[in-house]
Amino acid sequence: MNNEGVKKLYLKEFPELLNNSSQYDAVFNTDGPTLIIAGPGTGKTFTLVLRTLYILLTEKARPSEILLSTFTEKAAFELRDRISQFSRKLGKKLNLHELKTGTIHSICEKFISCYLRKTPLNKNFTVLDEITSLLFINENFKEIIEPYIEKDKYFGKWTGKWNTISNLTGYFNKITEELIETEELLKSKNEFLIMIGESYNGYKRLLFEKNKVDFAFLQKIFYELLLDDEIYKKISSELKYILIDEYQDTNYVQEQIALKLSDINKNICVVGDEDQSLYRFRGATVRNILEFPKKFDNCTVIKLLSNYRSHQKIIETYNKFIESINWFSSDKSTYYRYPNKTVIAA
Ligand SMILES: Nc1ncnc2c1ncn2[C@@H]1O[C@H](COP(=O)(O)OP(=O)(O)OP(=O)(O)O)[C@@H](O)[C@H]1O
Ligand SMILES: [Mg+2]
Repeated sequence: MNNEGVKKLYLKEFPELLNNSSQYDAVFNTDGPTLIIAGPGTGKTFTLVLRTLYILLTEKARPSEILLSTFTEKAAFELRDRISQFSRKLGKKLNLHELKTGTIHSICEKFISCYLRKTPLNKNFTVLDEITSLLFINENFKEIIEPYIEKDKYFGKWTGKWNTISNLTGYFNKITEELIETEELLKSKNEFLIMIGESYNGYKRLLFEKNKVDFAFLQKIFYELLLDDEIYKKISSELKYILIDEYQDTNYVQEQIALKLSDINKNICVVGDEDQSLYRFRGATVRNILEFPKKFDNCTVIKLLSNYRSHQKIIETYNKFIESINWFSSDKSTYYRYPNKTVIAA
């Protein structure tokens, strides 16, 4: 169907788009780098779903050429479900089977399976989740932790087995997600960092020896696959649109993957709210959303400010709370928030 035909159909079924010009732009201007930024309940996900569906119905891309990701599997499932529900509402039947939805790491896992022989993994590899990776370190405590005792403390810092495992996992994930080379740690003059680097190398070796991978490594391995020119050309030429919800919760390697995958056609749309950076203290970096527009010459920034979910009173309290927070970094050089983001009741 042509663009105008689909637009007409949309405005008949979703006349609310006419009352919100920012949403209207975000739904119908589907090409080029776009950041949709907003407070809670302002229809970010609703907009992303309609945008994706518009791309599909206007045949700008086939389902398999769209990568649509978000932070949890549950939310990813809901995205797909809402697309299918809305397409039925518009009287269109779509086969969304090949749409690439999921969390970024689950999408990485699927790609890795296609290029297994170019990775450190073998057939039927096991993916460790947050809990099973702690158990894995526990099972291999002797190699990964025991050698690193200093002044009666593990890594000179921690006591208690599980406390150490949990702290160490935080460092391991950070090293992997931030694409830090362990040689850098081993070269440092800091005894703690040297021990962490050595322990990490042991963890990594055991992981691959046992044909296992954690969430962070799934992403790093996929990123490394993209550094292979041939694989990169193949994967990126088969992807026309990248759309990411809850972008405030993405980490460094995820950002690098998203930017690389969209490097050729620049059809990348990210949606998020830096105020909601759930994982701000868990490796996600709010910088990704703040600096996104700077990565391109012509990024469209759309702010959605009308809240459709809550009562005026709740919104006022929310605004007061958010504005009461000191958003400056500790050295005062960076303001971790977009200005003029006061949410209003729709
Ligand atoms: N233009 C609109 N007119 C009327 N209702 C709308 C409009 N846009 C969104 N909504 C409704 O607002 C509600 C919140 O939408 P949605 O979940 O997409 O918001 P969100 O910004 O993604 O929220 P969150 O911050 O929780 O991720 C939904 O019920 C949605 O249908
Ligand atoms: Mg949402």
